[in-house]
Amino acid sequence: MTDQPKGDYYDDPSQVQAYIESRQSGLSRNELVEEPAFLALLAPVPLQDRACLDLGCGFGHYSSILAKRGGVVTATDRSALMLAAAHTSRPHERIHYEQVAMEDVTFPAATFDVVISNMALHYLADLAAMVNKIAGWTKPGGTFILTVEHPIFTAARETPLGIWQDDTTQTEWIVTRYFALGPRQGPFGRHYHHTFQEYITTLLSAGFVLQALVEPQPSAEALRLNPNLMQDIHRPVFLGFRCLRVPEQ
Ligand SMILES: C[S@@+](CC[C@H](N)C(=O)[O-])C[C@H]1O[C@@H](n2cnc3c(N)ncnc32)[C@H](O)[C@@H]1O
Repeated sequence: MTDQPKGDYYDDPSQVQAYIESRQSGLSRNELVEEPAFLALLAPVPLQDRACLDLGCGFGHYSSILAKRGGVVTATDRSALMLAAAHTSRPHERIHYEQVAMEDVTFPAATFDVVISNMALHYLADLAAMVNKIAGWTKPGGTFILTVEHPIFTAARETPLGIWQDDTTQTEWIVTRYFALGPRQGPFGRHYHHTFQEYITTLLSAGFVLQALVEPQPSAEALRLNPNLMQDIHRPVFLGFRCLRVPEQ
């Protein structure tokens, strides 16, 4: 069963429309900060004819990047609205979209060469259960790339909408409740706070080796395009990993 309550952010047509418009504005934090970090993590990964899985694919933006680079992509998301947008705006002969909560997905062992999950795993209460499944679905020697909201960013009890719009460089970003794991209410629905240690130990315990880790900051060009991102020079919003599934001995 999914951890997201029905009637959540990604089930609301006006919220989803606003989200997708923002994600295609050329000015969003995802486009200017998260996507360059993800592309850098992806750069060394062979994709031609590789079996790929995109968990929490949303409107298919990253699935389509994998497909355009030769990947054969299974892309899943629990939101019918996001998948409808994916079918419309990111169709590709090598992408198969499927509506299913990632907690309910099943695949045979060692199905995929590459698994990605961008900005979706922080919606799960039981991170370890999901990462263990992903490790099982990934071929030995395969790659798992994930980006999530940074634990420093998710620690606070609530993520008020205002902080996304606050362009001041004077705000003090105080980290509280860092070790209190669990749900938080944010601008994009209920998400779950996991610590940095939890992400790392969960990945290692599942049988992944950490190859690369990134806490991306906005570039000078990103700051020129969107000065609101000045707040992101004070604390990280995103965290990304590239992991290798340990080959069989
Ligand atoms: C911030 S969006 C990211 C979408 C896409 N990965 C991207 O980066 O463009 C988060 C997505 O995760 C999906 N999601 C949240 N919880 C999920 C779950 N339990 N199973 C599958 N998808 C989920 C939402 O429906 C939404 O499309």
